[in-house]
Amino acid sequence: MAEPVVEARQVTRVYGSGDAAAAALRGVDLQVAEGEMVAIMGASGCGKTTLLNCLSGLDRPTSGQVILAGRDLTALREPALTRHRARVAGFVFQSYNLIPVLTSEENVLLPLLTRGDEQGAARQRARGALAGLGLAGKERRLPNELSGGEQQRVAIARALAPEPRVVFADEPTGNLDAERAKDVLDLLVSANRERGQTLVVVTHDPRVAERCTRVVRMESGRVV
Ligand SMILES: Nc1ncnc2c1ncn2[C@@H]1O[C@H](COP(=O)(O)OP(=O)(O)OP(=O)(O)O)[C@@H](O)[C@H]1O
Ligand SMILES: [Mg+2]
Repeated sequence: MAEPVVEARQVTRVYGSGDAAAAALRGVDLQVAEGEMVAIMGASGCGKTTLLNCLSGLDRPTSGQVILAGRDLTALREPALTRHRARVAGFVFQSYNLIPVLTSEENVLLPLLTRGDEQGAARQRARGALAGLGLAGKERRLPNELSGGEQQRVAIARALAPEPRVVFADEPTGNLDAERAKDVLDLLVSANRERGQTLVVVTHDPRVAERCTRVVRMESGRVV
């Protein structure tokens, strides 16, 4: 079998310390092969967001290892970690994490410029990504001038515009109406099926899960 593009080995994550310590992940093993579209499902609080943050290098496990695109993230220090992430991964956060003082277009531009794309080409790519999500004409709006669903679509444009090897998405359709949710899902599916990008998607939505190539279920900090 080819080397997995994302791999967790006995990953734990404990929040807090002493009496307040709470284990959100309790020894997760997971392998995702290149080209898979994996859904992670499970009850609220079971550790899905925590796992996604650890897999993508946004958070460090308390113990265990995470390998992303050939590099052991737990052995990388800054700024090498951030550079590696910018080169291989895109993220759609559950809470969007748009930068409030930047317009839609600037938010989408940011990862493109971070990885060193030329200005003009990056701007064109950013506008294309926004248009693809029905946001043409809203390039100059700040996040607080957009609806929740529009902010979510900017966050998706930001993750997909660089066409990263791996896309991590936390509830990407959580705040969208049925029609928009289907558009976003179609975009994610085509990133996977047509461009071969690997997707790891946290979702409660069975319509999302059914279009994934595999479903991983979590319960109380473990993959079951
Ligand atoms: N920063 C934090 N400090 C302390 N505990 C936290 C922190 N973040 C999450 N937790 C706890 O860790 C557990 C897992 O949280 P996580 O956000 O990963 O759940 P989830 O599966 O994504 O839930 P949801 O479906 O509601 O988004 C929960 O019990 C949560 O209360
Ligand atoms: Mg969550």
